[in-house]
Amino acid sequence: MTYTSSTVRVPDVAAVPRHIAIIMDGNGRWATQRRLPRVAGHTRGVDAVRATVEACARRGVEYLTLFAFSSENWRRPNDEVSFLMRLFVTALEREIGKLHANGIRLRVVGDLTMFDTRIQDLIRRAETKTARNTRLTLTIAANYGGRWDIMQATRALVEQSVAAGRPVEVTEEAFAEHLAMAYAPEPDLFIRTGGEQRISNFLLWQLAYTEFYFTDTFWPDFDADALGHAIESYTERERRFGRTSAQLEPQSQNVDSLPC
Ligand code: FPP
Repeated sequence: MTYTSSTVRVPDVAAVPRHIAIIMDGNGRWATQRRLPRVAGHTRGVDAVRATVEACARRGVEYLTLFAFSSENWRRPNDEVSFLMRLFVTALEREIGKLHANGIRLRVVGDLTMFDTRIQDLIRRAETKTARNTRLTLTIAANYGGRWDIMQATRALVEQSVAAGRPVEVTEEAFAEHLAMAYAPEPDLFIRTGGEQRISNFLLWQLAYTEFYFTDTFWPDFDADALGHAIESYTERERRFGRTSAQLEPQSQNVDSLPC
């Protein structure tokens, strides 16, 4: 699909969010509450990832984006960072066959040059294997930062201008084509678990008109029911994209079905 900017054109709105983006927070606190090491929370977090991917596929969500490791997570203790890397590799190796069998396309976005080449190869192989699947696109944001994304897209536009020998036209859509997730529509619903209410440098550009949902549930406890609550809350929102409520009459709004 061609990227549509919500600030240029009012996007289509469906009853089920097409794209859900999640900050999976609270793994450490989940473990600490149980007197377990923090990393036990990350291990259980993988089970919640599996449950959420399955629930999204069943509900007809087209894009699910998970923030697995931010560009700022390198600031964590070395052994926690190494554990997260190993967990990511193990989970990817173990789950890729099942993802593929279930029609799920995997993409990984972020500055992957920071990862060792074995991880980079594994990611590329998993992406290639699942490239033609259409049921759900699962994007894992790894060493991702919203500012990194905006900077690398800006750099790409500058390089285009240099190659062309003249400044290329800078429009929102020309810019967004260079963002790491140019293949996806902007998220309809952003979920953050673990009780904090911030974006933490996630999809800064794309969250312009996204609906936000915060829950105190720690990520390892997030499941199909918790996802259901988030989607229920989403369906109650009035997505105006700058317009007034009166303008949202069925005939004037380009909707597939109205939120009830
Ligand atoms: C935030 O919780 C969580 C992370 C930084 C890592 C998330 C990783 C996973 C759920 C597992 C790997 C994912 C995939 C896609 C295989 P936190 O540690 O900040 O929790 P706290 O706020 O309670 O300390």
